[in-house]
Amino acid sequence: MNRVILNVDTGIDDAFAMILLKQYNITPEFIVASSGNSLLENTYRNTAGVAKLLDFDCPVYHGSARPLIKPHYYENFHGDKGLGTYEFNDPVQEKDHHNGIIKMYEALKREKHTIICTSPLTSLGILMRLDNSIKENIEQIIIMGGAFGITPYGKGNMGNAEFNIFYDPEAAKIVMEEDINETIVPLDVTMNRELAIKSIPPSSSGSPLEDFIHKTTKFMIEEHGTFEMHDPIAVFSFIEPDAFKFVNGEITVKPDGSTEFIEKRDGKKRIATGINPQAYRKGLVNRIYGNLA
Ligand code: BDR
Ligand code: CA
Repeated sequence: MNRVILNVDTGIDDAFAMILLKQYNITPEFIVASSGNSLLENTYRNTAGVAKLLDFDCPVYHGSARPLIKPHYYENFHGDKGLGTYEFNDPVQEKDHHNGIIKMYEALKREKHTIICTSPLTSLGILMRLDNSIKENIEQIIIMGGAFGITPYGKGNMGNAEFNIFYDPEAAKIVMEEDINETIVPLDVTMNRELAIKSIPPSSSGSPLEDFIHKTTKFMIEEHGTFEMHDPIAVFSFIEPDAFKFVNGEITVKPDGSTEFIEKRDGKKRIATGINPQAYRKGLVNRIYGNLA
């Protein structure tokens, strides 16, 4: 399997995407935390905290601190600091001063990588503008983002747009309209209410990871009624692509963050349009919640 770089804006479902990778023994080469679900200082601390909880043997670097043009959008869907009311007992204090965008550039200069991005696309947009030739070494980018109206769920969660694209449409335009192989996992698949987690898992036996899973799931269900697994589903498309239906085509990103898609057999964008619910339960939900159920 290729070397993997993970881009996140942790974010409760970003944390669950990291948990899913761990369940499949996939450790990213490094993780880049950018602003999105919360300010960078929070998403960085959250990402480093979850990486520590998971015993991930990889660095976490700072990515972009705000969108290219727009101001930071305070949505607070994931709570003030991005992980609901969850607090780490022993929060990661040190700041890794290496810049994650430069680290991606250096890694891609050396060899081919797959990038998984469950955050807004700002850091990747800057990377493309830093040195466009870098794309030769991008095997593919897997992106949680977009809402195409291909299914009844893909109508947007920020007006007609999906949050990651809405947060930074200019960066999304750079990345999604670039000539690179991309797998896009949009709301059309991830916002399906049938797939959302609807019940709070029982309190844990005491492991810090089980405690984290319990408290953050509880927060999402109490605040929003269900917990939608957007980011883990995107990671799952990398782990088990055969569980998904895809169509190929080209994407256009509009200034309001809405996204359009034209089907083309040889298009470099592969858009997920469906997921096998059994595979989802077995390979994703049970892997994360199995030992808590
Ligand atoms: C996306 O937006 C964020 O709130 C989630 O972490 C996910 O990446 C879903 O629209
Ligand atoms: Ca996210």
